[in-house]
Amino acid sequence: MWLYLAALVGLCYLLRWYRERQVVSHLPDKFVFITGCDSGFGNLLARQLDMRGLKVLAACLTEKGAKELRAQTSDRLQTVTLDVTKTESITAAAQWVKERVGDRGLWGLVNNAGIAQASTPNEWLTKQDFVDILNVNLLGVIEVTLSLLPLVRKARGRVVNVSSVMGRVSLFGGGYCISKYGVEAFSDSLRRELSYFGVKVAIIEPGFFKTTVINSEIFVQNLKELWDRRASSEVKQIYDEKFVASYMKTIKLKEQKCSQDLSLVTNCMEHALTACHPRTRYSAGWDAKLFYLPMSYLPTFLVDAIVYWNSPRPAKVL
Ligand SMILES: NC(=O)c1ccc[n+]([C@@H]2O[C@H](COP(=O)([O-])OP(=O)(O)OC[C@H]3O[C@@H](n4cnc5c(N)ncnc54)[C@H](OP(=O)(O)O)[C@@H]3O)[C@@H](O)[C@H]2O)c1
Repeated sequence: MWLYLAALVGLCYLLRWYRERQVVSHLPDKFVFITGCDSGFGNLLARQLDMRGLKVLAACLTEKGAKELRAQTSDRLQTVTLDVTKTESITAAAQWVKERVGDRGLWGLVNNAGIAQASTPNEWLTKQDFVDILNVNLLGVIEVTLSLLPLVRKARGRVVNVSSVMGRVSLFGGGYCISKYGVEAFSDSLRRELSYFGVKVAIIEPGFFKTTVINSEIFVQNLKELWDRRASSEVKQIYDEKFVASYMKTIKLKEQKCSQDLSLVTNCMEHALTACHPRTRYSAGWDAKLFYLPMSYLPTFLVDAIVYWNSPRPAKVL
């Protein structure tokens, strides 16, 4: 009986492997628009798809980033500057894309641009801290998607949204996890709505990777500023310096554990854009696959216990 079961599971995996290997045709005719191409995953994906022969439309936050990317890629790749927090910038970029793709429509939209903040307890922050991050990571994704949706529908193409394992388990305070939970929710509803039109929506959930978004020096500096300049006297009494020091140590340790191999993420993005049968969700990185994703399926009390035992404790606890 166990042998039959193992054979059945093996057969299912074999079928899935075969199904996922099939690639869409006419890739060199397809346009893909990627946000946040100055650095990190967006930059690598733009170069990777360019090498594969696709027509890449790369949006960079700065002209400097765009110039550097153009210098490393073929003439097929075109760049535009885009700030996803500004409606006029998104409208201009959408018009720019429309002029390039014409009647073919846009095959791929990759919502990759994002920022992070130092992880801190929520009560150290202000509403504006949350607004700043949600504007880029969530509202930016939504507005860019709404502006380009008619072009993606025309091509019966793909939307690839970059979330995070922090969109599955909320391990620290601040706007980052909230923004990624929002990306997950937006993508789920979008996938169901767009399935009627042959458009596929994929969510990328990376673990921790060494990019500029995870910079322990900047995070520690942010944390120090928050503590020195903004923390109220009550917060300072409750948490104390020892808590801040051990929080800083955790941030530095986390950076050391980050994976350097960004291709684990960009290969998932590429698969979502080029496979006939893309997955709905991709977990990228061993930490995501072996730790954070399984953790997201645990009962809440167990997740709470894991976080509790691994987090620094305020000085005045009950
Ligand atoms: N690295 C990780 O461990 C990790 C894990 C899970 C999810 N992610 C997600 O992956 C995505 C890419 O991040 P990354 O790790 O590759 O970091 P990154 O190298 O900092 O890339 C983020 C990109 O977004 C751009 N950007 C920032 N604000 C923007 C704005 N307002 N409008 C347009 N573009 C903007 C940045 O431009 P500048 O370089 O000019 O600032 C940069 O090119 C993000 O959504 C991030 O949340 C990262």
